[in-house]
Amino acid sequence: MQRKLFTSIARTIGAAALVSAAAFTPIASANDEEGKLLFLKGAAPACAICHTLEAAGAAGAVGPSMNELQPDAARVLNALKNGIGQMPAYTSLTPEQMKILSEYVAKASRE
Ligand code: HEC
Repeated sequence: MQRKLFTSIARTIGAAALVSAAAFTPIASANDEEGKLLFLKGAAPACAICHTLEAAGAAGAVGPSMNELQPDAARVLNALKNGIGQMPAYTSLTPEQMKILSEYVAKASRE
């Protein structure tokens, strides 16, 4: 009895997760667009000046290629917050912009 109840709850949650994942897809791609814009020109100085990211059409060669490094979002966020080597910290970006940009770079570098 307990088990049956659990299974049906799990099914309900599973279905809800599927529905909400589908509902959130357009939002995720809007963030991708914003992330790409931040990478290309929104952040100053633009990431694209120094980094290659093929999905964004960026071919900078001062810093490491994002396609080779394939950093996860936490690693990008750390570089944005603290700077690293010759790369400045991006204190003018809002936390939300930093999150969008980090997640975009992590995803786009694997495309
Ligand atoms: C002036 C050139 C320059 C700009 C602009 C720049 N970077 Fe960098 N970036 C570098 C250099 C150089 C490194 C390597 C630093 C080192 O390892 O000493 C680096 C490293 C990184 C790393 C790797 C960090 C690590 O943990 O190894 C990431 C991720 C990164 N940059 C993302 C970005 C993003 C996103 C932007 C735009 C907001 C950006 N960079 C803008 C020069 C730049």
